Amino acid sequence: MHPSFDTMSMFKNRSLFTVTIDGIVEASLLASGDDTEVIYHRLSAGAYWTLEPESQENPANGPLETIYLTAGRLTVFSDSEELTLTEGDHISFHPVSRQIVFYGDMESTFLYICSKPVFHHYRSSLEEVNHLALTIEQKDGYTSHHCTRIMQMSMKVGQAMKLAPSELYTLQFGAYLHDVGKVRVPNELLNKPGRLTDSEWELMKRHTIYGREILLETGLPYLTQASLLVAQHHERHDGSGYPFGLKGADIHIGAAIIAVTDSYDAMTTDRQYRRAKPAADAIAEIQSLRGTLYHPDVVDAFLKCL
Ligand SMILES: [Fe+2]
Repeated sequence: MHPSFDTMSMFKNRSLFTVTIDGIVEASLLASGDDTEVIYHRLSAGAYWTLEPESQENPANGPLETIYLTAGRLTVFSDSEELTLTEGDHISFHPVSRQIVFYGDMESTFLYICSKPVFHHYRSSLEEVNHLALTIEQKDGYTSHHCTRIMQMSMKVGQAMKLAPSELYTLQFGAYLHDVGKVRVPNELLNKPGRLTDSEWELMKRHTIYGREILLETGLPYLTQASLLVAQHHERHDGSGYPFGLKGADIHIGAAIIAVTDSYDAMTTDRQYRRAKPAADAIAEIQSLRGTLYHPDVVDAFLKCL
């Protein structure tokens, strides 16, 4: 049933559906009917959001999609163009014929108005990311703060390195879901207090490959792109990493960024088997491994961001 005037009070402040991806976006369906959906969004400061063509094969045939900014400030990127939206501004695409990237210059709220088929696709994509994030949280004892922290640090480094907005969008999800493959690693291994045996360690290293598989299985274009970063986040600049022992430029720059931020976070966080290092020691260690384990440009950008 769709809320109408006589049921207005009943539906006041009640959304039909809400998904939150911690540190990125909260989306609530406010109204649905006549093939139109109105979705309220709260985009976090520093987070990215996109519109993609409804069909990759036939991008010229998509329906109308509109964004109306109710508070905050968004930068909109498309190819080489960019513009800023402030409160009360709106922007429409008929159709969305190429990827449009939105960046939250500050926490921003907006209405996204789209057609039912676009919404269904969008909703399942949000739910998929949310489901993956929750699964990893339950499995590895990570809090969503860990995923959010790695993501936010990685985005700062990516911005300092002047990655393109579409690359930053991929990095956002690659960093957020970098350890999702651990859901396919047995619990006994993840929670083992002592050292892993050689064969257990081999299995643990497979979380990179499992992560890539999980993201590819979603069939979503941006998670397919992010799957490469997830597969390579333990590769090291000098070829000493895993799973493939890739070196230097053969490692995706996004994966090289996650390698640094994930290592820094691991060093400065208490884990079951060791205490956290002071931040200054962790920074010194990252710095000492510049050009060996870690990409030199990434280390430089990382140090700048601190
Ligand atoms: Fe990992």
